[in-house]
Amino acid sequence: MSRKYNFYAGPAILPMDVMKKAQEELLDLNGIGLSVLEISHRSKDFMAIAESAEARIRKLYGVPDNYSVLFLQGGASMQFSMIPMNLLKGGSADYVNTGSWAKKAIKEAKLFGKVNVAGTSEDKNFNYIPKNLNLSSDAVYVHVTSNETIGGIQFKEFPETGDVPLVADMSSDIFSRPVDVSKFGLIYAGAQKNMGPAGVTLVIIRNDLLDNVAEGLPAMLDYKIHAENQSMYNTPPSFSIYIVNLVMEWLEKMGGVEGIEKINEEKAKLLYDYFDNSDFYNGAANKEDRSLMNVTFRIQPEELEEKFIKAATAAGLMGLKGHRSVGGCRASIYNAMPIEGVKTLVAFMEKFEKENK
Ligand SMILES: Cc1ncc(COP(=O)(O)O)c(C=O)c1O
Repeated sequence: MSRKYNFYAGPAILPMDVMKKAQEELLDLNGIGLSVLEISHRSKDFMAIAESAEARIRKLYGVPDNYSVLFLQGGASMQFSMIPMNLLKGGSADYVNTGSWAKKAIKEAKLFGKVNVAGTSEDKNFNYIPKNLNLSSDAVYVHVTSNETIGGIQFKEFPETGDVPLVADMSSDIFSRPVDVSKFGLIYAGAQKNMGPAGVTLVIIRNDLLDNVAEGLPAMLDYKIHAENQSMYNTPPSFSIYIVNLVMEWLEKMGGVEGIEKINEEKAKLLYDYFDNSDFYNGAANKEDRSLMNVTFRIQPEELEEKFIKAATAAGLMGLKGHRSVGGCRASIYNAMPIEGVKTLVAFMEKFEKENK
């Protein structure tokens, strides 16, 4: 079987070792004669998997003891609603508007309270991270999108918010670099980019926030209920959690978030250095804010972009089309993308440039 290189933004590439292990174990988990797909989520075999996934996440990210780790459903999009529903209680929150995902989060928050847009990069089509934020002292929390998957911009440093809890959508860069979890009130991420398959959403929440969630919420939308039930209030997405556990095991072997960060920097540098020396390909994001995960670029003249994407696809380099809302090209190079994949892409780009310039 010849595998292609997967540059899709998500669901994204998974480590080959993880796919192989899942394949080997699919029909018979640990010799129990059943698949992980068909055992009870309350069985000791599955409970061991869920506990291992949580323990690995805690260790890899250095999650302090006063935080809960939850495996929820509904994607990161559900968190756009659950966060204000649980925390806002009619108050006001600061949101940094860095693009399409932040906008969606803002739209949901407005259903539950007031939103102060503390900074926006809309004036330049979201090609940079706003720096001088207009934070309000009475905000219930400050919300940021640590990596905007569509525009390809990433917070290199998070804002200082003092006593106001910082909430971050880390869907597209979770576990790609070390993060000081103690600086955050809540971190959330859909799994399908750096953690595993779609279907599970990770929420890391500080326990004092849990203790103060709004009263009378529907059970499935109430963080406290999920935490009290160790994410087993109802049937969790067990297969997705199983794969998350394997991805975290793989990440440990890669040297944890510190190890993978170095590799991620090296991979992104190959592409950005190439753009910086080319007048054919142009990076779409402001240099100092460019994402290590989603590398967005344009081709001059733009009519060539479609040809580029077609030719790349034919060469086995998949998913390089930019998001439909912005156009252009995007190479998503998450944790599991091997450096050979990026080198292959750069070599293809060089060839395409020579042939089309
Ligand atoms: C930064 C970011 N936030 C939120 C989402 C939405 O995630 P989900 O599809 O899990 O709801 C995405 C999806 O790509 C994303 O990239």
